Amino acid sequence: MTDKRRILVTAALPYANGSIHLGHMLEYIQTDIWARFQRARGHEVWFAWADDAHGTPIMLHAEKQGKTPEALIEAMHAEHLRDFDDFGLSYDNFASTHSETNRGLVERIWQGLNDGGAVSSREIEQFFDPERGMFLPDRFIRGSCPKCGAEDQYGDSCEVCGATYNPTELVEPRSVISGARPIMKTTEHFFVTLEKFRDSLKGWVRSGALQDEVANKLEEWFGERLRDWDVTRDAPYFGFAIPGHPDKFFYVWLDAPVGYLASFAEICQREGLDFEEWVRPDSPTEMHHFIGKDIIYFHCLFWPAMLEGAGLRRPTAVHAHGFLTVNGAKMSKSRGTFIKARTWLDELHPDTLRYYFAAKLGSGLADIDLNLDDFRARVNADLVGKLVNIASRSAGFIQKLGDGRLAAALPDPDLYQRFVDSHEAIAADFESRNYQFAIRRIMALADEANRYIDEHKPWVLAKEEGKSADVLAVCTQGINLFRVMMTWLAPVIPRTAAAAAEFLNTSLDDFDAIGEPLLDHALNKFKPLLRRVEPEQIERVLTASRESLAATSAPATAAAETPAKAAAKEETDMIEFPEFARVDLRVARIVKAEEVEGADKLLRLELDIGTETRQVFAGIRGHYDPAELEGRLTVMVANLAPRKMRFGLSEGMVLAASEDGGKPYLLSPDSGASPGMKVS
Ligand code: MSP
Ligand code: ZN
Repeated sequence: MTDKRRILVTAALPYANGSIHLGHMLEYIQTDIWARFQRARGHEVWFAWADDAHGTPIMLHAEKQGKTPEALIEAMHAEHLRDFDDFGLSYDNFASTHSETNRGLVERIWQGLNDGGAVSSREIEQFFDPERGMFLPDRFIRGSCPKCGAEDQYGDSCEVCGATYNPTELVEPRSVISGARPIMKTTEHFFVTLEKFRDSLKGWVRSGALQDEVANKLEEWFGERLRDWDVTRDAPYFGFAIPGHPDKFFYVWLDAPVGYLASFAEICQREGLDFEEWVRPDSPTEMHHFIGKDIIYFHCLFWPAMLEGAGLRRPTAVHAHGFLTVNGAKMSKSRGTFIKARTWLDELHPDTLRYYFAAKLGSGLADIDLNLDDFRARVNADLVGKLVNIASRSAGFIQKLGDGRLAAALPDPDLYQRFVDSHEAIAADFESRNYQFAIRRIMALADEANRYIDEHKPWVLAKEEGKSADVLAVCTQGINLFRVMMTWLAPVIPRTAAAAAEFLNTSLDDFDAIGEPLLDHALNKFKPLLRRVEPEQIERVLTASRESLAATSAPATAAAETPAKAAAKEETDMIEFPEFARVDLRVARIVKAEEVEGADKLLRLELDIGTETRQVFAGIRGHYDPAELEGRLTVMVANLAPRKMRFGLSEGMVLAASEDGGKPYLLSPDSGASPGMKVS
């Protein structure tokens, strides 16, 4: 075995104001596979991360829900944990950036930056919402583009002509929060002088810590003077107050990456590890960050500068990945492809997604497409058809003819050795995050294993007199090849591997164990390991993703390359009145309601809106007796683009209240209203 490495692994911290979706899961599965792989190689691995709990959007989001930010982040933390556990993530700690441990480390780093002369302060002028009494982040100001005149553009960039500018340049600026015209106000802010770190950052960039594409991008940024980083936000803000300045807070992006270390510090506390040994500059340990390509700037400039300034070690590596698309396009709520982790788990096995992502992931920044037809075909062909099949074809005979015990020798040790010979190549693929190559190699071997069984036809031999020993030998070979492949795949499909380990009556969590075959060894009873993915399951995921729109809205994720744009993700899900006014809400009479065959969540409704009758499929089945709905009034969205569903065309949507996925309560107008009335 190679020398034992000591590795801290992190994934980017999800914002605590939204649900986890499959885009997040791409990263978290990528990270988890790597962590599990390193453990299987015998290394010491700690997978630490947290919720990113601070910032203006979380503050406003909580306010809108009538909650304290603390209550909001606590509820989200519990939801996130459930999603992660059910997806089989093997993290060692999932903390929160809103913790005293994090505050302590943030203050320590801040002190270091100050002592090293890397902090300056100056007065700046910023837009201020006089009605709401708060300074406005760029994304909370809208107005007309100074370049092309397009109306209703963000404070930092124009979506029509692509221009970027300062919010002060906007024509007719407005506060997104109150609608008021913002005024200019001066305030004192603290800045981190990034230029101070230019030379050491340059050295780090060339140290092999980064992918080539990322290193090139940084070289580009180094082409210009590095702008001072404004790390201050004025009250009201949900975050950590800057020591000595109770009305000033650290910008969320300052305390967020510190959350990696705070989460790890909690592990150290729990496990009796020496935190200082891990964070000192000459530490013999490794620190690896997995992130999306939208947050490179934060992790490759700000974060190493902070660490350097505080006298702490820098990351061994930052591994950036591309964005997830579904069916070839950006995840879309109206297409039902903005899929939450929970919606997936309600219908499909977590390992199916883990496998598919692994089969597509490489070491670069390319976007990854989840094509749902390809997903189903691939999982069914590879996992069910090839892999699990080898075990299920062999298990019965071993039970019957060997009383559940494997033969004492392999009939084809060369074949077994050929499998084991791929070991280092497969390990190298995992190490370099080229999971797709590892999967390709393993599946080529699975074909070989199936060919072996096909050629030796145990089911024919079993019918012949005196051939039991041969059948047992062939099946022992099959089971051993299965075990080798399952060992390599355990980091990818851990739940299936756990079930396989139970059947094989051995552990599968050590890559080196495959050097020796399993012989003269008792197996447990075989249970089916994984079911085929059916088209209906995918249909239901899409339908549920569309339906859940009525009740909740997850914040959209922006594909951004700069801090200004990445800060866009700090955006709330507030809309302007004109946007709302585009929704045509009408009073509707339910003239007919019936259950839809093959859709256990849907009712088919016929709605009279005065001028015409519309057909709508609503996800309220099981909560209402269709007969009782007939005749009652409700409210519908009349200008929702019609959607072709398996059962027919859905021409709108009815409105219902519900608690995140719970029982729906259909809205109805006061008595006296009549079909067709406009609702506003
Ligand atoms: N809170 C910050 C990260 C702070 S790390 C110190 C953040 N949060 S996020 O919830 O928006 O994103 C978390 C991670 O998920 C990021 O690495 C981001 O790139 C990744 N993804 C979010 N949407 C994604 C896709 N659609 N596809 C792939 N990854 C995506 O950024
Ligand atoms: Zn413009």
